[in-house]
Amino acid sequence: MNKMISENIYSFYALEGKSAIVTGAGNGIGKATARLLAAFGANVMLCDIEEESAEAAAGQICAEGGRAVSMYCDITDRDLIEKTVNKTVEEFGTVDILVNNGATLGGGKPIAKVDPPEFARLIDTNLTGVFYFIYAVLPIMRAKKYGKIINISSGAGVVGGETDFHYAAAKGGVIAMSKGLARELGHESINVNVVAPGLTNTRMAHEWEFEPALKRFYRVGEPVDMAAAVVFLASDAAGYFSGQVISPNGGEYMI
Ligand SMILES: NC(=O)c1ccc[n+]([C@@H]2O[C@H](COP(=O)([O-])OP(=O)(O)OC[C@H]3O[C@@H](n4cnc5c(N)ncnc54)[C@H](O)[C@@H]3O)[C@@H](O)[C@H]2O)c1
Repeated sequence: MNKMISENIYSFYALEGKSAIVTGAGNGIGKATARLLAAFGANVMLCDIEEESAEAAAGQICAEGGRAVSMYCDITDRDLIEKTVNKTVEEFGTVDILVNNGATLGGGKPIAKVDPPEFARLIDTNLTGVFYFIYAVLPIMRAKKYGKIINISSGAGVVGGETDFHYAAAKGGVIAMSKGLARELGHESINVNVVAPGLTNTRMAHEWEFEPALKRFYRVGEPVDMAAAVVFLASDAAGYFSGQVISPNGGEYMI
């Protein structure tokens, strides 16, 4: 490849020195995303309610030559979110990239089995937690007129799910919230986009519908397939993308 072109392409995707927070980074898609962000040069804060998993994932990134730290953080707890953001600034100087990935499943329930507390629990974690984290990093991004916010939704948020309508409601809410914020924050050079994964080979998917899905697809997505979309949206290559939904799903559905 022409040297000038290859250098330009590299600098389009390079994240050297950028500071990123990934929620739910101890496992699955969040872990793969943190690793790939670090591989492209970002300094990464990995937070999760599974403290040991986040710590191990951060340790792996450091062993691979990247820069990463970890912290216990429940995305339903605003104090912990504040502490996580402060610690990130302490370690890396700022926050440039926020990946709202942490979420929980609904347990494959039909509506008759979803009582109001269960509905509220899903919305709290999968939708309100995303809002809390954006709210906490926004003053930093606004002050420097730069920010990349990538929210992980789900195919269920786009086309619904056969069960877990409350999970679909939260994930659909993530898409609508991202579009609204993209409109509001665009003039401040803060991009807000969504990755809506199709079925992906993680613990969450195995808890849900993995085996039947294997019969439907030529292959199921791997966490790195989703991470690649996140890294693209975090990079300057996607500088003109905002309010968009990218759905790596092997052609299961089209948005
Ligand atoms: N795997 C799939 O097929 C699939 C499909 C569509 C969307 N998604 C979405 O992808 C994202 C990642 O899921 P995954 O498949 O990697 O699952 P996973 O279970 O491997 O990882 C989810 C992570 O989120 C963390 N988490 C859960 N509740 C949290 C909380 N309150 N605070 C902080 N962290 C919390 C978990 O501890 C875990 O480490 C989720 O948003 C999920 O909804 C996954």
